[in-house]
Amino acid sequence: MKPYFRTLKGGLFEAVNKADVGDNADKMKEDGVVMLSWADPFFPDDKLDYDVRAAIEKSLSDGTAQHYTAPIGNTELKETIAKKLSEDNHLSVNPKRNIVITPGSDAALFYSLVPFIGPGDEVMSVDPSYPNNFQAVQILGGIPVSVPVKPETGFEIEVEEFERRLTNRTKMVILTNPNNPTTVVYSRKSMEVLADFVKKNDLIIVVDQAFEDIVFDEKEMVTMASLEGMFERTITIFSISKGFGLSGLRVGYIVAPDVLIDTMFASAVSVIGASNTASQLAAITALHKRKALLRDYKETFDYRRKVLYDALRDIPGVEMQIPQSAFLSWIDVSKLGSSDEIVNYLIEEAKVFVNSGNCYGGMGEGYIRLVQGCYRDDKMIEAIIERIRAALIKRSLEKGLR
Ligand SMILES: Cc1ncc(COP(=O)(O)O)c(C=O)c1O
Repeated sequence: MKPYFRTLKGGLFEAVNKADVGDNADKMKEDGVVMLSWADPFFPDDKLDYDVRAAIEKSLSDGTAQHYTAPIGNTELKETIAKKLSEDNHLSVNPKRNIVITPGSDAALFYSLVPFIGPGDEVMSVDPSYPNNFQAVQILGGIPVSVPVKPETGFEIEVEEFERRLTNRTKMVILTNPNNPTTVVYSRKSMEVLADFVKKNDLIIVVDQAFEDIVFDEKEMVTMASLEGMFERTITIFSISKGFGLSGLRVGYIVAPDVLIDTMFASAVSVIGASNTASQLAAITALHKRKALLRDYKETFDYRRKVLYDALRDIPGVEMQIPQSAFLSWIDVSKLGSSDEIVNYLIEEAKVFVNSGNCYGGMGEGYIRLVQGCYRDDKMIEAIIERIRAALIKRSLEKGLR
């Protein structure tokens, strides 16, 4: 077995406190614990759009769903994506050459690294950010390099931190934008400065835009590949899981220039086989009606972020910024205990499971991540938030904080 696999957390022979491993989630549910831990809109409730449902049903009733699409994806879906990229991302791409459909964006992220990263190669990622940015690199034998972003600078990119960690083994940067877990939507200035760093040092950047669809307060969502001189060296990853709330369909896509995507076209049949046909057809419908879908979801998530922020921000020992995107919150609870202590405390005291901040990199210790986008019913979320508030106030009083 390769050395890194031996040390992976969550195998069959190790007890771990992770909801996505073994039967932990089932056990918690039996104990009446609610999960605000999956970044999966409305989980576990049914909020499947009527037209998307109809597209899936049609693919079943006319038999299309029975068969493969091309390994690189359905042509009509790719054409629809190219139109969306031009309208929303200022990207003009050839759908026949620059897009590969994948079974979700996790697969897309891994696939983007495979041709380029091998043992000893260093890949820089903001810390805290999405755990796979570190883990996928390690699985390939590469070395993830954490580049801190800090609360005092609003978790924005500081390019000096990248420069300080550059070595002759640095191959790539992975950036999650908007970031998970901080929800920060990186400013145009930050993106331009990072783009210059990537160009100057002849690197490739993978930008994961899984959360691009729901951005608040008129923040500008800048697509790195649309900046001058960046299309050539950027692999961008997209998903319909988050903004569209269609995580179970497992559709993501990779957008890259000919020279980078060439190897993925050549190997798609070996790596992907093909993504699910019914899901790809449903994704076409979802993309066509994205404006209406996203308007509805954005309204819900905007309301919930404000409810959550208002409920927690004045608790002594709790620090947070109002979420800038999506349906997540990133909360500093370090004055109340370690991340793991507060996760376990909330299970006991509030019957809620949230994520421990230390999953998102070393800078995440002392934080928890919470998904206010779960469940369909706002009233249910409000009641859960109230339980979290009461529990944290109690903890704060026990710690003597005012
Ligand atoms: C930043 C980020 N990228 C990618 C993914 C994977 O999403 P999917 O594979 O459903 O597209 C997630 C899921 O939580 C995520 O948070």
